[in-house]
Amino acid sequence: MAKSRVRRIGILTGGGDCPGLNAVIRGVTKPAQDYGMTVYGIIDGFEGLVEGRARELNDTDVSGILARGGTILGSSNKGDPFHWPVEVGKKIEIQDKAEAAIKNYQTWNLDALIAIGGDGTMHICNKLSQMGLNIVGVPKTIDNDLDATDVTFGHDSAVYVVMMALDRLHTTASSHHRVIVCEVMGRYAGWIALHGGIAGGADIILIPEIPFSWQKIYDKIHKRQLMGKKFSLVCVAEGAKAQGEEIVVKETDIKRTDPIQLGGIGALVAKNIEKNTGRETRVTVLGHLQRGGSPTPYDRILSTKFGAFAIELVSHGKFGRMVALKGNEIKNVRIEDAIGKQKLVKPDNQAVFAAKAVGISFGV
Ligand code: F6P
Repeated sequence: MAKSRVRRIGILTGGGDCPGLNAVIRGVTKPAQDYGMTVYGIIDGFEGLVEGRARELNDTDVSGILARGGTILGSSNKGDPFHWPVEVGKKIEIQDKAEAAIKNYQTWNLDALIAIGGDGTMHICNKLSQMGLNIVGVPKTIDNDLDATDVTFGHDSAVYVVMMALDRLHTTASSHHRVIVCEVMGRYAGWIALHGGIAGGADIILIPEIPFSWQKIYDKIHKRQLMGKKFSLVCVAEGAKAQGEEIVVKETDIKRTDPIQLGGIGALVAKNIEKNTGRETRVTVLGHLQRGGSPTPYDRILSTKFGAFAIELVSHGKFGRMVALKGNEIKNVRIEDAIGKQKLVKPDNQAVFAAKAVGISFGV
């Protein structure tokens, strides 16, 4: 590894956590010495950058963290420097703290910053890049909804959790002749429900990209019953909605960059199924179980590659870029081109085709 002119780099994890973040931190920190670089771990994402909280990371700090979920650096959904909530009396005022973030970057003598996060983090990175910071982005999210990369790490681990949950729900649904609805995360994309539902053998998968008909769900359950199948498993994405109806929002919080918190569609689907089919129905909301715990082998490998390629990019002074998986190769794209482009499930996606081929209904 050639020594680089870059001497001191910061690293942070922004937005919601997901399995594989620590593997990226390790993938950056372990090779740093060979490049002649010191790594500075910024605490709690951009919150720490604004508030001046960081600590040096060395090889020992990242030993043994490959298999650990979450992030050893901490993260936050509320630390956007350009959307900084401040309590003024009884009101929340949104302020711009970008100058404070830049000042800390300079005070710590950073030559570059590696930011690991989803679309929200990449938006912040883009703005800070335009203000002169040297940034390399690493995409993460269990939702797998970033268009610029074929896959984000964390997704495979979340899908594994969904599969395990459906396997377990299968046995109890079958024993009690029940319908069980399992609500999964994914925001406005249906990847987790689609992949988890196929892997876990769901009978019905409901995703935001394919608005469903209530009647088609009841028909599918009825049809299964006529075939002697006394139970059904429904895997519903939190962002799924019925045709002509609105998405179900659990809460809004203006302190967050994205104020909308989804949740509740699972309970609604279960209630309507029970009412309209007469079948005993239960709901399980997997929630943050999907974000926690140890990454799968796939996610450990992808995260390690992303980390190692991110520091390699930094060493070549290639800033304003984000690492991305394209086919089987790690490439890099301009952060500016990557942001705001959601990767949604297309109705002609091969996984949708395969799911339909094995009899899974999308409620249409
Ligand atoms: O983007 C990841 C994700 O887990 C989404 O699937 C989910 O809607 C959201 O974050 C939940 O965020 P929070 O942990 O802030 O409630």
